[in-house]
Amino acid sequence: DASDIEKGTYPHYMLKEIDEQPLVTRRIIEKYRNENGGLTVDENIVNAVNAADRIYIIAAGTSYHAGLIGKQFIENWAKIPVEVHIASEFSYNMPLLSEKPLFIFISQSGETADSRSVLVQIKELGHKALTITNVPGSTLSREADYTLLLHAGPEIAVASTKAYTAQLAVLSILAAVAAYGKGLSLEFDLTKELGIVANAMEVLCDQKEEMEAIAKEYFSTTRNAFFIGRSVDYYVGLEGALKLKEISYIQAEGFAGGELKHGTIALIENGTPIIALATQEHVNLSIRGNVKEVVSRGANPCIISMKGLEEEDDRFVLPSIHEQLSPLAAVVPLQLISYYAALHRDCDVDKPRNLAKSVTVE
Ligand code: G6P
Repeated sequence: DASDIEKGTYPHYMLKEIDEQPLVTRRIIEKYRNENGGLTVDENIVNAVNAADRIYIIAAGTSYHAGLIGKQFIENWAKIPVEVHIASEFSYNMPLLSEKPLFIFISQSGETADSRSVLVQIKELGHKALTITNVPGSTLSREADYTLLLHAGPEIAVASTKAYTAQLAVLSILAAVAAYGKGLSLEFDLTKELGIVANAMEVLCDQKEEMEAIAKEYFSTTRNAFFIGRSVDYYVGLEGALKLKEISYIQAEGFAGGELKHGTIALIENGTPIIALATQEHVNLSIRGNVKEVVSRGANPCIISMKGLEEEDDRFVLPSIHEQLSPLAAVVPLQLISYYAALHRDCDVDKPRNLAKSVTVE
């Protein structure tokens, strides 16, 4: 649909694509729903997942970050062990493969050369592959045994936003349906909770002025920034740091809250921005402890928490959504903050220097 690739009234594709996330999440729920209202995934794919004794997720960039969270869904719900690998490293650091591996390639474009070379390699070994992609008919889709589509619509901005949350939504559905296929049940209704996520995304997309204020306050002049979190918040922090780096050129790193003290804390100076995610009840005390550690060294903290876990000094509070799905919403303010940081630093938001939308060389 041609209107899909128009910017319309938006100044940048990135902002348009961030705003599309509630719609894309709802579209994914519809696309993966059967006539009884339950979630469904092609039976051959579910069988392939449940026949595997171990799943190897292969991806690059933002898609790799989605894979880290997909691992949690699959392990927690379908109870299948998962390893997540950066595509470009896989052949040098090839793990000992299990007896019945399944490979899942996550790629927005379906064209990333690093991922494709792993696909070629594992096909030669006779293994099965599933590609999760936004582009039907893409190379990784054609060459794998199975494909799951993201249905996110064309993503034009180099910095990936709606494809990431679509990847998380599709991975959550795959994990849940695989669990149901094994007779396991989730402790909650995924369709309903994804609907709540879509509503939360909408609320977040309506808070752009607040995100712009945070971007100005923390990122107008800084050289560097750190993102910390524990559990899945750590993985969301990796993605938040990548977004900021890609488009604003601020040196940003994501760290596990507990790891900062093992070296990186040496970089904290007066005013260094620390974006801390606190959406997980089971690690709430520990992450807040980490914030205190960096604040006592002069850091400028920006705590993003979730309704129900909020404390007085939190800079932003996310609407309450299911804890295990929090990455789908928690990433939205990080995307918007990066967008406004880049905008106010006069960067080319949609076409950052040195980057390409899809990298077709190894
Ligand atoms: C490029 C893009 C990134 C993207 C990565 C993987 O480096 O600039 O935004 O995350 O490729 O792309 P893929 O299409 O495989 O998800």
